Order: sequence, then structure tokens, then C-alpha cells
Amino acid sequence: MTAIEKQDTISTSPIDHLLSLANEDMRAVDAIIIKRMQSSVGMIPDLAEHLVGAGGKRLRPLLTIASAHLCEYEGKAHHKLAASVEFIHSATLLHDDVVDISDKRRGKKTANLIWGNAPSILVGDFLFARAFNLMVETVSMGALEILSTASSVIAEGEVQQLAALRDVEMSVKTYLEIIGAKTAALFAAAAEVSAILAKSSPKKRKALQTYGQELGIAFQLIDDALDYGGFEMSLGKSIGDDFHEGKMTFPVIHAYKTAIETRDEIAVDFWRRVITDHDQRDVDLQNAITLLQKTDALEASLTAARTHAQRAIKALHPFKTGPWKTALVDLATFVVDRVH
Ligand code: IPE
Ligand code: IPE
Ligand code: MG
Ligand code: MG
Repeated sequence: MTAIEKQDTISTSPIDHLLSLANEDMRAVDAIIIKRMQSSVGMIPDLAEHLVGAGGKRLRPLLTIASAHLCEYEGKAHHKLAASVEFIHSATLLHDDVVDISDKRRGKKTANLIWGNAPSILVGDFLFARAFNLMVETVSMGALEILSTASSVIAEGEVQQLAALRDVEMSVKTYLEIIGAKTAALFAAAAEVSAILAKSSPKKRKALQTYGQELGIAFQLIDDALDYGGFEMSLGKSIGDDFHEGKMTFPVIHAYKTAIETRDEIAVDFWRRVITDHDQRDVDLQNAITLLQKTDALEASLTAARTHAQRAIKALHPFKTGPWKTALVDLATFVVDRVH
């Protein structure tokens, strides 16, 4: 699983642009993150620092900051909420890498590989708890409601996905439900909380929620396509994790459906063996990639992601044009185009 791996190579991108627009805010957010991951129990900051220090795109806290500016919020509570959102994200990554038995994250060995599963789960719990401390400190019941609901929805998405492992018959509808929960719910909440802080109209609040939800779906569709390599871009994670787990994602759903429709029995038998029976040999990842290419599955993922990114952009119509809106529009386009 090493030949196709590459480091995250984003250089100048809408994410960088947003980071520079939000530079001052993000410095405040980073300071909160560093301070609040400390503990006198040494393993906690060691393990948290391993993940947090490896960077990450900081996409979700950027959404909170950008949305606060879009809503013309003038206070400071968005910094704590943005840090809280990144802590929720970090906690889910620690847990997710245990569940997925992943060995690489942000270009480095995963915490579960270095420290083991138990420390990863427990430090994930710690970060979750710290996220809730930060929310409470903002004294915003609305923010607490949105982010606590998102946290339970993420867990539901992860469990629904776990229960659906090896279900080769999974529909696109179910897949979209799962990624809507495990990934997009946090994007949506990250954007929506700022509308709450700014006491914006229900229309603007809904607009940001929809923007985040659609962006999150587009983002995960691309992430799942990248799990099969095939694009120039890679994300500092190993490829093939989804395949080895027997996890149905958009490209495989597409390829399996095409195999059924075209009565390609060899392909149908292949997917049933590797997914349903979970009987996989060394060459099977490459065979899977070949079948995905044959059915243009990665292109189909891109098309689906583009549809959701367009919906995200459309949702921003209640906001007037300006640098923050432009940055969010560009971000939605980039989330899909980052593969090239
Ligand atoms: C990874 O998210 C988890 C998914 C939802 C696919 P990111 O790709 O935003 O992770 P980092 O924070 O930049 O590492
Ligand atoms: C991301 O899911 C984790 C959460 C959204 C909770 P995946 O398992 O699909 O993402 P990566 O590929 O490990 O980042
Ligand atoms: Mg994973
Ligand atoms: Mg996972």
C-alpha cells in the first residue's frame, strides 16, 4: 500500500486563501486548541500533539470563522466554537482510525499504530469532553444544541456504516445518508453555529446549514474516490482502506450496479467475493481499481460531488457578495477540483 502514497501537496488553494483571510481569527483558534489539549496526564498531550501538530486542513473551524464574518458577528465566541469544532473532528479521527484499523493519517503513522487502540479511544474521549467545555463557556444554548446534536449524528453515521459493512447491495441513498451523518453533519454545524452567535435570521441560519451539509457530502464523495487512488492528488492517508474493510462507497456502488446492469458476471462475482465474502487476495485492490476504471466510477464520483458542491454554492444566495462569500464559493468548487 505504499507505492501510490504521496504527501498532502496543497499549495495555493481556496483553503490557503481562507486561511489568510481568517489569519487573525485562526491564530486565536490555534492558541485555544493548544491550550485546551493540555493535561497533567502526559500521554494525553503527547498523543493529541501527534495528531494536532501534524496539521490538517482546519476546514471545519475555517467554516465557523467564515460564517461568523458572513453573518457580521462582532464578538469573540466564534473562536471557542471553532476550536470546539476542531476538537470534535480530532476526536472522531482518533476513533475512526481505530475502527478503520488505519495506519496513516496526515502523512504520519496513526496514533493507534504508535500508542495502540485504548489510548486513542480514551484521548479521543478527552478531546470530545474538552470540546463540550468550550461550548459551555460560550453560554450559547443554541450552539450547544447544534454541536451536541451533530456529535450524536456523527456517531450514528459511523455505527450505521459499521452495520452496513460488506453489504454489496448498498444503495446510493443509504451511502448518502451515512456520509451525510458521519461527515456532513459537522460541516453543517460548524457553519450554522455562527449564525446562532450572530443572531442571524432563520433564513441565513438555514442557508449556512445547507451550505455546510452539501459541502460535506461533496467532500466525502471526493475523499472516498481518493481512497482508490487514480487521481494525482493524495491526502497523506493510505489508499485501499475502504476496500480492505469491505466498505461500500460511491465508486464501488457505481461499479457493482453497472456490472449488474450489463450482466458482467465476472465483475458481479468479483465484488461479491471481495465485499460480501470478504475474501481478498493481494492483487484484488488492483483488480478493483481496474473495474472502477472500466465503469468510469471515479468520474461518476466527481459528477455527484459537483452536484452537491453546486447546491452548497446556491444555498449562499441570502448573503451579499463580498470576500467571505467569494471565499466560500471558491472553497466549494475547490473541494471537488482538488483531485486534479
Ligand atoms: C478527514 O477529514 C475525515 C473525513 C471526513 C474524510 P479532513 O480531510 O478534513 O482531515 P484533516 O483535518 O484535513 O486531516
Ligand atoms: C471519516 O470517515 C471519519 C469521520 C467522518 C468520523 P472515513 O473513515 O471515511 O475517513 P478517512 O478516510 O479515514 O479520513
Ligand atoms: Mg477512516
Ligand atoms: Mg471510517
